[in-house]
Amino acid sequence: ETVEWDPEQAGKGEYDHFMLKEIYEQPTALAQALEGRIDPENGRIALENFEPGTFADISSVQFVACGTSYHAALYGSLALKQAGVQSTALLANEYSVSAPPIGDDTLVVAVTQSGETADTLNAMRHAKAEGASTVTVTNVVGSTAAREADEALFIRAGPEIGVAATKTFSSQAVMLTLLGQRIAADLQGEVPANLESLLPELEAMPDSLEALLEQSDAEAIAERYENSQSYFFIGRGLGFPVALEGALKFKEITYEHAEGFASGELKHGPLALVTPDTPVFAVFNGVEDEKTLKNAEEAQTRGAPVVAVCPDGHRAVDIADAHLAIPETEPDLAGLLANVQLQLVSYYAADLLDRPIDKPRNLAKSVTVE
Ligand code: AGP
Repeated sequence: ETVEWDPEQAGKGEYDHFMLKEIYEQPTALAQALEGRIDPENGRIALENFEPGTFADISSVQFVACGTSYHAALYGSLALKQAGVQSTALLANEYSVSAPPIGDDTLVVAVTQSGETADTLNAMRHAKAEGASTVTVTNVVGSTAAREADEALFIRAGPEIGVAATKTFSSQAVMLTLLGQRIAADLQGEVPANLESLLPELEAMPDSLEALLEQSDAEAIAERYENSQSYFFIGRGLGFPVALEGALKFKEITYEHAEGFASGELKHGPLALVTPDTPVFAVFNGVEDEKTLKNAEEAQTRGAPVVAVCPDGHRAVDIADAHLAIPETEPDLAGLLANVQLQLVSYYAADLLDRPIDKPRNLAKSVTVE
């Protein structure tokens, strides 16, 4: 007697798709990213490759990446800027024509899950040839990026099979937060002021995510707004890359039209697209939330349903048409929790449309051509 055994199905375990499995793996993935990298004794970040002082001579940081990794890079770059370090995130495929000046005091951080993305490798090679120091933040040990960069930091998320990046985005963002703190500490000669409150919240991230995943209303929200014309995502500060990522995920796996905007940008053009058929997902992260709320209300006045992604008890909950709850955390980390709710909305919306979620049409897991 033979038993039918499909190795692919077996790999998914209890889940219908790898994407959902990988979304649910995020608490573990983040715990692995953090493992041994926080030194609570003296309240510091300890990164295996980088002794304190490593970055003391760096004058600016450039992040290069594509797609979802670019959104993580933008997140990392904004966090570093907030810490007072000159930094910028650039699309790797634009880098050869738009790179800012590079010198031997420039640090270039190539963010790539696969470590094989041609655009990102080319940008890193260009930076290296110009004399920059290079670090890659990657998931794949032995990848081309890991071999070619001066140093590699591994996010330890485990294999990601779904073409849509989920757990690796969260792990990249956390890894870049740690790296940013180390860079800022070296440049300023002291532990950054916000680290004391950030550290316990970083350590709590796996549990916060677990709590979020245990009771998410994402499936009901996906059903409620099925058949909409377009899906908009807005956020401010560190919520902006989350809005971009929410929209990319949505279009990638549902094939529906989705766009991400900086909250304040809505009124500078995109508002013309807003109708009762265009739900607006608004990410609140404790940074100028009143302004984001006003921006969301401007869309609501034009008939658009607003979905607030924020903790229970937030003022936005009373005003919005729907709510996706996230646990309370530091402003720097709220967007990462919000992002997971948005991943789930995309997943369930794509499932309702019966899309091939793990392998969307026209896309490959790793893009090795320019
Ligand atoms: C995200 O869901 C995509 N699959 C895509 O944007 C991806 O992030 C991009 O191609 C970069 O890949 P990398 O991280 O392996 O370099």
